[in-house]
Amino acid sequence: MKLLLSICLCFISISFALDTLSPSKTLRDNGQTLVSTGDAFELGFFSPFDSKNRYIGIWFKNIPQKTVVWVANKNSPLTDDSGVLSINSTGNIFIHGNQSAMAIWSSNSSASNPILQLLNTGNLVLKDGADDGSYAWQSFDHPCDTLLPGMKLGWNLMTKQNWFLTSWKSLQDPASGDFTYKIDPLGLPQISLRKGSQIEFRSGTWDGVRFGGETLLRENPVFNPIFVFNTSYIFYSFENIDSSVISRFVVNQSGLIEHLTWSDRGEWVNIANMQKDECDMYGHCGPYGICNINKSPVCQCPTGFTPKVPKDWNVMDWAGGCIKKTPLNCGENEGFQKFSRLKLPDSSQLRKNGTVLSLKECKAACLRDCSCVAYAVTDASGCVVWFGALIDIREYNEFGQDLYIRMATSDLESNNNDRRTVVIVSVSVVFGVVLVASVCSFFIWKRTSRISKAQQLGVNNLSLDYNSSAAEEDQALPLFDVYAIATATNNFSFTNKIGEGGFGPVYKGVLPTGQQVAVKRLSKESGQGLKEFKNEVVLISKLQHRNLVRLLGCCIHGEDKMLVYEYMANRSLDLYIFNQTRGTALDWGKRLDIILGIARGLLYLHRDSRLRIIHRDLKASNILLDSEMNPKISDFGLARTFGGDQTEAKTSRVIGTYGYMSPEYAIDGLFSIKSDVFSFGVLVLEILSGQKNRGFYHPDHDYNLLGHAWKLWNEGRIMEVMDALMEKPVPKSEILRSIQVGLLCVQQQPEDRPTMPSVIMMLDGENDSLLQPKQPGFYTERYLTEAESSSTGKKPQTTNEITITKLQGR
Ligand SMILES: *[C@@H]1O[C@H](CO)[C@@H](O)[C@H](O)[C@H]1NC(C)=O
Ligand SMILES: *[C@@H]1O[C@H](CO)[C@@H](O)[C@H](O)[C@H]1NC(C)=O
Ligand SMILES: *[C@@H]1O[C@H](CO)[C@@H](O)[C@H](O)[C@H]1NC(C)=O
Ligand SMILES: *[C@@H]1O[C@H](CO)[C@@H](O)[C@H](O)[C@H]1NC(C)=O
Ligand SMILES: *[C@@H]1O[C@H](CO)[C@@H](O)[C@H](O)[C@H]1NC(C)=O
Ligand SMILES: *[C@@H]1O[C@H](CO)[C@@H](O)[C@H](O)[C@H]1NC(C)=O
Repeated sequence: MKLLLSICLCFISISFALDTLSPSKTLRDNGQTLVSTGDAFELGFFSPFDSKNRYIGIWFKNIPQKTVVWVANKNSPLTDDSGVLSINSTGNIFIHGNQSAMAIWSSNSSASNPILQLLNTGNLVLKDGADDGSYAWQSFDHPCDTLLPGMKLGWNLMTKQNWFLTSWKSLQDPASGDFTYKIDPLGLPQISLRKGSQIEFRSGTWDGVRFGGETLLRENPVFNPIFVFNTSYIFYSFENIDSSVISRFVVNQSGLIEHLTWSDRGEWVNIANMQKDECDMYGHCGPYGICNINKSPVCQCPTGFTPKVPKDWNVMDWAGGCIKKTPLNCGENEGFQKFSRLKLPDSSQLRKNGTVLSLKECKAACLRDCSCVAYAVTDASGCVVWFGALIDIREYNEFGQDLYIRMATSDLESNNNDRRTVVIVSVSVVFGVVLVASVCSFFIWKRTSRISKAQQLGVNNLSLDYNSSAAEEDQALPLFDVYAIATATNNFSFTNKIGEGGFGPVYKGVLPTGQQVAVKRLSKESGQGLKEFKNEVVLISKLQHRNLVRLLGCCIHGEDKMLVYEYMANRSLDLYIFNQTRGTALDWGKRLDIILGIARGLLYLHRDSRLRIIHRDLKASNILLDSEMNPKISDFGLARTFGGDQTEAKTSRVIGTYGYMSPEYAIDGLFSIKSDVFSFGVLVLEILSGQKNRGFYHPDHDYNLLGHAWKLWNEGRIMEVMDALMEKPVPKSEILRSIQVGLLCVQQQPEDRPTMPSVIMMLDGENDSLLQPKQPGFYTERYLTEAESSSTGKKPQTTNEITITKLQGR
């Protein structure tokens, strides 16, 4: 009898180590589960954290922390372990409790020869006998709070099926919570997070190439984002790049949208946040207000507009938004002001006109309709026009979409003729100033004329002889053909994009010779004009050091300017030090190598190259890593050269990146080798701590990373600043030395900071007793939030260009 029982039990357990359930079988709440072939997912009964209710769910099989990705009866739990899962012979899936004959959940599906199967993708499917790959029912069509690779978020426009995510009510209760994340199919597709019916966050509109400047579709090493928008479908989906990686996209109970990946350290790591800062709060700046996180205050009224309630606006109550300075009457004197690099406004009050593709026609279409307030031309939908107030506009520094807002001609920023004069004036002023300030100005000017001549003549080699007296060092920098570059980068396709530099996107390309290159395409509207371009070309082509990235050539095509660099297999340092997964690749030894490499590169710039060069924008994302993780300094768009004994200069056009700028530069526009040393010190502390200086958060105080380190230093607990990702044990004395060097570099007073030669000596340990650091500059930055990119000062561009006349040698 006993034997029979155990054989019987044995049979039961064997029968449920399977991945399928047929109509004659049931799955009970006694530990029975379905396990997908491949062991990735498991289906069975479970109770959420701290709850006694029982649910049928699907979770990852091979990670220790039970993470449920789908729940069948989320809104109708079982209160005991009497539950039974079954399918009937016509293909309906049921969950029954013990007591009642009524199913507490059913799929309402039908199939002729049904088999229920848990696939290794995490999809629970009802197969229809016929093995044609179609399913009578699948759990992927009924998402809960999680998107797995292969699941869709969006619409099947033919069947009107809508896939969307709904948060759990709480950690204890998987019932539908307050938050939904859905694609709005009308207007331009956009993905909105709603709490109830209220929009909380919006992805920006899909223009056929990207969502208005947001991270959803950023290329990254973990997953490939996919967006489909055609007459049959609109959806977002993703696939993991490495099939062994476990990742999921989830809307959590508090309405946070995250892409998480399972790390080797045994926890979920957030690799992409949709909502990053206050500008991501829907309609933060009210109607017509523009949010720019790099400006202070973040909310601004666009040109031609003024705060609706100035009193509120001045106390940072933005809800009232902005109104037109001159009300429109649909008359003659109306035109459009162009705004660039935007996340386009909410598209619910928008009309598409896919037949019109040119800006001119789109403008005419908008003008004809008195209620049209703005227009844009998009890749996917052609001309789109807005009616009603423009809500939730965000401005980025680097990329985004163009919007034309209707206003009285008198409010337009300037007409074309005016603008041309400004450019001519400022360009000549700039060149005049450089001539005074810098010994090399003559040669820059000379090169300028050469470049334009090269353009006119279409010559293929741009001679970059630096100085007629140094003719023996003449070099020819190849001028690449624009078509060759386009071919190499798949026409600058999204999949070839590897990053966004300060002045535009960077693409990976493969030349016909097989050589891999990185092509920096300077966006036309970026701050980098011909001036910075030439600056970078001239400077970097002269520089040769193993810790500086090598420029292979450039390409000028009309307004398009491109720089072709050697390709750096491991991209940039920020991708490692600020990333929990990749950060583990950098042990202490590697980090020290990187610090030393950067120091040597900087030393070369400051001292060893023929000119004294101030980089002015040293930061983690400008340190590139080759295949062996050797660091190379890049992005010389802002670099300045100093002649002979000049040590300091001043500019009123402060450009750089918050978090790395020294106080005297950010406040007074003074830059010198010591302002680079400050940035280097910030970088050292970031590399050691794995934290960003700007955006650093600590529950106990408002300091940034510098302030935090300074506090720990004074409290004798400085080792606590170290990145936990570095493997232990670490050589304490070496680390202390590096931290101390970092702190010395970020001291408030430039004259207290060491020069690069002594930094290297200190790091090499040649100098046994180091000075005690004094208080760092800028150690509190409470209300400023993370800025990824180079940011210009607050003054309008034209003023900046002209006021640069203040630049003077000292
Ligand atoms: C299910 O029903 C059977 C028979 O009615 C009973 O013996 C058993 O205790 C019930 N189980 C639960 C969990 O209620
Ligand atoms: C299966 O369940 C459905 C829904 O309850 C029902 O309409 C159908 O008749 C059932 N099929 C069989 C064979 O009982
Ligand atoms: C099945 O149909 C019932 C009754 O119409 C409904 O309450 C239930 O939500 C449906 N089940 C699913 C999974 O859609
Ligand atoms: C739309 O895109 C889907 C997914 O890529 C594809 O299967 C389908 O054929 C496309 N339909 C049309 C009409 O282009
Ligand atoms: C949602 O996610 C964020 C970020 O991971 C976390 O801080 C928060 O506690 C989560 N909310 C809930 C209710 O789990
Ligand atoms: C699109 O624009 C064209 C030309 O301006 C116009 O004739 C047509 O009526 C517009 N269509 C819609 C749907 O607005």
